[in-house]
Parts: sequence; structure tokens; C-alpha cells
Amino acid sequence: MADILDRVRCKALHSKIVSAEEAAAFFQPNMNVACSGFTSSGYPKSTPLALAARMEKNPFKVNIWTGASTGPEFDSALAKVNGIGHRMPFQTSRELRDRINHGDVDFIDIHLSEMAQQARSGFFGREDVALIEASAITEEGNIIPTTSVGNAASYVQHAKTVIVEINTAVPAEIEGLHDVYVPLDPPNRLPIPIIRPGDRIGTSFIPCTPDKIQFIVPSDNADTTRELRAPDALSQRMSELTLSFFRAEIAAGRMPEHLLPLQCGVGNVANAVIAGFNEADVSHLTVYTEVIQDGMLDLIDSGRLQIASGTAFSPSPDGLQRFFKDIAKYKKHIVLRPAEIANAAEVIRRLGVIAMNTAIEADIYGSVNSTHIRGTHMMNGIGGSGDFARNASLSIFYTPSTRQDGRISCIVPFASHVDHPAQDVDILITEQGVADLRGKSPRERARTIIERCAHPDFRPMLMDYFERADEATHHAQTPHILSEAFAMHERYEKTGTMQLDTPQPAEPSEPEKE
Ligand code: COA
Repeated sequence: MADILDRVRCKALHSKIVSAEEAAAFFQPNMNVACSGFTSSGYPKSTPLALAARMEKNPFKVNIWTGASTGPEFDSALAKVNGIGHRMPFQTSRELRDRINHGDVDFIDIHLSEMAQQARSGFFGREDVALIEASAITEEGNIIPTTSVGNAASYVQHAKTVIVEINTAVPAEIEGLHDVYVPLDPPNRLPIPIIRPGDRIGTSFIPCTPDKIQFIVPSDNADTTRELRAPDALSQRMSELTLSFFRAEIAAGRMPEHLLPLQCGVGNVANAVIAGFNEADVSHLTVYTEVIQDGMLDLIDSGRLQIASGTAFSPSPDGLQRFFKDIAKYKKHIVLRPAEIANAAEVIRRLGVIAMNTAIEADIYGSVNSTHIRGTHMMNGIGGSGDFARNASLSIFYTPSTRQDGRISCIVPFASHVDHPAQDVDILITEQGVADLRGKSPRERARTIIERCAHPDFRPMLMDYFERADEATHHAQTPHILSEAFAMHERYEKTGTMQLDTPQPAEPSEPEKE
């Protein structure tokens, strides 16, 4: 208790400290609950768990808005009791995904940079309550975030009322890590004054006043972050290919010696790519990204990375403890901003960010599916991949050439769902190779992708499809035999193998007998 009282520095607020159960009693059916949290970082934990317990006894649903995904105490706990009505803008929970794909939850998948402004515009109704994890509240009632900022500042500004969870598992020394800037909405928006990735343009807290805070809930659970797999052979190969591609770009004078600010998606491939930089002869790197993972701590430790700007610090459990232990050092190299600034099109374009994201599948022309398994079932959502891919100076997508023990090709004739059109994909990398698609027409792109990126087991089938489509369409701009391309996905659904319904050559007819 003493720790909580120390952290709630505004003494007038001490009377608002309540248990998670008392705070959970506040929620009513169909409320719009706007929360902190971005990946498994900085999300409220005690109140959602108490709310889930309440919903288990008396079922009802609330709408949940966050910055991105959250940890198991939040999305999974509420999904298990079927307590979520509408959910946006991103998730990664297996339980929630099942609910979404069975029609129990209405999931709205939007670009993460757009969520805060759309909420402020009132497109989804107003935030009834902002539920925010914090490390402290200042004398004035301002809120110090924890391991992410996400959309918390905008939700606090716009919500009718605020509930703050003070998480004492997060060292109070985290104060100073954040740079909070909520832009004005059009037509009053000013240029976002970030010229270099490390520029600080806002406050170290989320502005709030004591009267807006309804409850303060003590909490002492660290983020439940995910273990990262050690980079496997495929990810390592993609990392090596990336580094040699960058070396060639520098040698050709198309990239500065210290590269441009890097953005790297989440997950194992992304982490392996960043880990690869630790073996490389690189220095003075900068990162302007969404999520900061373990590999970036290694780059800071080895002196290769000067500054990492993001909206969430989302490491493995070991990485989180490592960060907490040496927080003063890492604070000099890390800035956490609101998602609408970390992912702002304007800043990404200005800095010339190199975007590196992962695909579920890519088609032979380079369009990428990041969200839907076999075109119908939501995986996680587009996240920030579209924010970066569209606005980057160089947009790279990764996928292994096959998944599911080689039964499916991740290079397909026509993607079963398109999140990133071919125009947003400059480079495609699989463990087979690098397809540089810049300056290539669709027909040139198809040959390059099939030759460089497709797995040899699927290459002949894909090339045969392309050549027949080219012939059938009389060399149209983007040749396709659509019925065949889509039937391939359906066939996989039915048989678990991915083959085209290739027309068989006619049997040679028996020579007629005299
Ligand atoms: N067909 C069928 N299933 C597929 C598939 C395909 N083409 N591609 C992937 N899958 C399945 C995998 O089998 C796996 O299933 P499982 O969880 O049941 O084992 C699952 O999808 C995830 O695949 P995995 O290879 O582990 O993917 P990953 O961790 O590399 O993530 C994305 C890939 C695309 C799902 C992930 O990067 C993502 O959500 N991207 C969108 C958001 C984003 O890019 N955010 C970063 C922006 S800053």
C-alpha cells in the first residue's frame, strides 16, 4: 500500500483507490471501454480479470478499444467469458481469434495510426471510460504510462471518465521514457515536428486532471510478454539476405552508409532480422518503428543502435527484466510515443523509413495478405504494417516460401486476401532469395518472384500458371485465370494440399485402324 500511496503523488486522489472488483462493478453492458495496451505491453490487468469474473456470473458484453493487442489477462480473459462486443483495432489472442472467427465478436481491423483520430471524431460513439495502466500519477493528476503509450493519451483526453491501474511491478524509474503528443484534428492539424527519430516533442506524461479520474486500482503483475523462439534456419537466412541486400544498396549509392531509420514488424522473423544486425558491420543505426523488441536492446548494448522510437516496448520476459534492471541506460536510447505519432504517415515519409514486415502469403505480382488465413479467417489484423509499407522509402515483406511442413506455398497465383497492394511492396524476401520489384511491370514482377522467392517444389506450377495466364489473356497487364487461382485456395481448404487444377494434356488418340 505504501508504494501505491507514493506513486499516486496527487494526495487528493488517495480516496479514489479501490479494489479491482470495486472498479469492475462500474462497467455496464455495451459501454465503450478504451484502454491502454499495445502488444503485450502496458495493458490493464487486474480490472479486466475482475470484470471477466463478474461477466462469468452475469454475462454481458462491452466494446474494447486499445492501441493494439493485449496480454492474456485482458483479451483472452474477456474472450473466454464471451464478454467482448466490438473489438478494435488489433489482437493476437487465440481465444479472441476463435470468437472473432465464429461471429461472437465484431472485430474491426484498421490501420493503427488511424484509430485514435477516428475515435476522437466520434465514428464509433464516445469512450465511456478510459482504462489506463500507469506507473504513477503526478501531483497535478497527470498519468505516467508504463511499457506502452498506444492510444492511451487520446482516450484519456476524450473519454467521459478515467480508471487508472497503478502497476507497482513496473519500476517508477520508467518515468521519462515517454513522449506524449496528441495532434490537433483536421482542419487544425499542424506539422508533427519530428525531424530525427529521437526528437522529443511532447510531455513525459498523459495530461489529465484529478477530477476526471474515477478510480485508482492497485496492480502488481508485470506484462505477460511472449517468449521468442531462437532464430530458426529460415529466419536466419532471411536475415542474411536482408543484410547482403542492404550492403549492395549502400555500394550502389542508393542507401546511406548508416542506412535509414528501420521499422521492423513483430514476431520471430522480425526479431531474427534485427538480431542479424548484431553480427554485421553496421553502426549509428536508428529505429523509427511501432514495437521495440529484444534484438534492439542487443543493438543498444553493442553500441550499434543510437535511438529506437516506438509506441511499445514489447520484449520477451527475460528482455523485460533486462530492461527494468538497466532502465536508466536504456531510457537514453528509447522513446515511446502515441501510436498515431509512431505510425504517422507524415513522419515515416519524412524520415525515409525502411519498413520490414511479415506476410501470410504474397502473390506472384507482389500483393500481400497479412491478415486472413485462406482469405476468410482473421489472424491478427493489419496492425501498423500498412502505415509503414505505404509510406516507407523502401517496403520489404518477408514470408517463408512454404508453411505447414511444405504443404502450402506462401507464393500463390492470387492472394486469397489483399492488405498490401503490389504498389506497396518493393522487395519480397523468402529463404529462397530476394525479389527486387522496383521498376518492374507486373509481368516482370511475376517472373522475378517465382524465380527468386517461390519454393522449388512449387516453382514449376506457378510458372506454368503464369505462362498459361499470359497466353490466355494475350499478354494483358496482369495476366490471370481467376477461376483457377481461387480454386487453388479452395482445394487446399478441402484436401490440405495446394495444387492448381491444371488442364491435363489430351490423351494421344489411338491410331485409327485400317
Ligand atoms: N496459410 C495457412 N496458414 C498460415 C499461412 C498460410 N499462408 N501463413 C501463416 N499461417 C498460419 C501458421 O501456420 C500459424 O498457425 P498456428 O499459429 O496455428 O501455428 C499462424 O498462421 C502464424 O504463422 P507464423 O508463421 O507463426 O507467422 P508469424 O509469427 O511470422 O506472423 C503474421 C505472420 C503475418 C501473422 C504477422 O506478422 C502479423 O500478424 N502481421 C500483421 C501485423 C503486422 O505486420 N504488424 C507489424 C507492423 S509494425
